Amino acid sequence: MSIRNAFLALAVLGAASTAQAANRCTIDLKGDDRMQFSTKSVTVSAACPRITIRLAHTGKLPAKAMGHNVVVSATPDVQALSAAGIKAGAANHYAPKGDKRVLAVTPVIGGGETTTAIIPAGRLKAGGQYSFFCSFPGHAALMKGTLVVTK
Ligand code: CO
Repeated sequence: MSIRNAFLALAVLGAASTAQAANRCTIDLKGDDRMQFSTKSVTVSAACPRITIRLAHTGKLPAKAMGHNVVVSATPDVQALSAAGIKAGAANHYAPKGDKRVLAVTPVIGGGETTTAIIPAGRLKAGGQYSFFCSFPGHAALMKGTLVVTK
């Protein structure tokens, strides 16, 4: 390998790792009419200046029938927050207002819609136990996953 080629190889490697690091600052999820998220596990980095949650509803059903959102919380809080979310109702996107256990919540959307939410820096700790779930009534049992937080 010539020196020039070695530099090129390093440049390519550098670009790849930068892209990977950027990925760890975004949670990209799709929800569908079969009450499923596109993935069961997402990895983000606690070092991100902020983490963006992007949810796309790829189905056709309206939000009233098949609404999806993304709630992020510590894993031990998922069940209690699901119940509290149902009480909070549609007007609050099925998340208890001002509840510190809710680390992030997107609006509830229906088929064909997209939404986002931001998790500010410092809210997620590396190595913590976190989950993401849909808090629409009855959905969390199927629509949930693990949020892994690296350094
Ligand atoms: Co849902």
